[in-house]
Amino acid sequence: MIDPVHLRRAFGQFATGVTIVTTLDAEGKPVGVTASSFNTVSLQPPLVLWSIARSAYSFAAFAEAGHFAVHVLDADQRGLSDRFARASSDKFADLRVGEGVGGVPLLDAVSTVFECETAHRYDGGDHLILVGRVVRLQLPEDALAPLLFHRGRYAVVDAVEGVVS
Ligand SMILES: Cc1cc2nc3c(=O)[nH]c(=O)nc-3n(C[C@H](O)[C@H](O)[C@H](O)COP(=O)(O)O)c2cc1C
Repeated sequence: MIDPVHLRRAFGQFATGVTIVTTLDAEGKPVGVTASSFNTVSLQPPLVLWSIARSAYSFAAFAEAGHFAVHVLDADQRGLSDRFARASSDKFADLRVGEGVGGVPLLDAVSTVFECETAHRYDGGDHLILVGRVVRLQLPEDALAPLLFHRGRYAVVDAVEGVVS
C-alpha cells in the first residue's frame, strides 16, 4: 500500500506549468480552476488533456461541458493562479473576459490559450480526465517565461532561451 503522503510528495517532484481552465456551467455562469495536470497529447488530431478533482466545486460544470479553454500562465501571473485555486463564487470579478467557442469565458490577461471541445472523458480515480480537441488557439508574440509548479510551490526559470518558430 502506497502511503498517500509520500505519493503526494513524489508527485510534486514532477515540475509542471500552470494553467487556468474555464467553461460555462449548466446555468451559463463562468467557472474556472487553476490546473497543473494539463498536458499536450496529439498533433494530428490536435488533442490536449487535464484532470479535474471529483471533489472540486466546479466538477459537475467541467464533467458536463461541451467546451473548455486552457490558459497557460506566465511567470508574473501567480496572483491569477491563486485566485482560481480557491473556491469562490466571484473568481471572474474585475477581470476582462472575452467569449470563446461555445461561449466559454476567455481571460484577456493570458496570451496562450487552447480553446477545446470535449473529445473524451476517462475515469481517473479521484479525478476525471478530460481530453479536448483544440478548435482554436492563441499564441503570444514574445517568448515569455512560464509560471512553473514544483514540490508544492511556484517556480520560475531564470531565462527563456531560444524560440521555436
Ligand atoms: C498550482 C495548482 C495546480 C492545481 N492543479 C489542479 C488540477 O490539475 N486539477 C484540479 O482539479 N485541481 C487543481 N488544483 C486545485 C484547484 O485549483 C482548486 O481546488 C480550486 O479551488 C478548484 O476550483 P473550485 O473550488 O471552484 O472547483 C490546483 C491548484 C494549484 C494551486
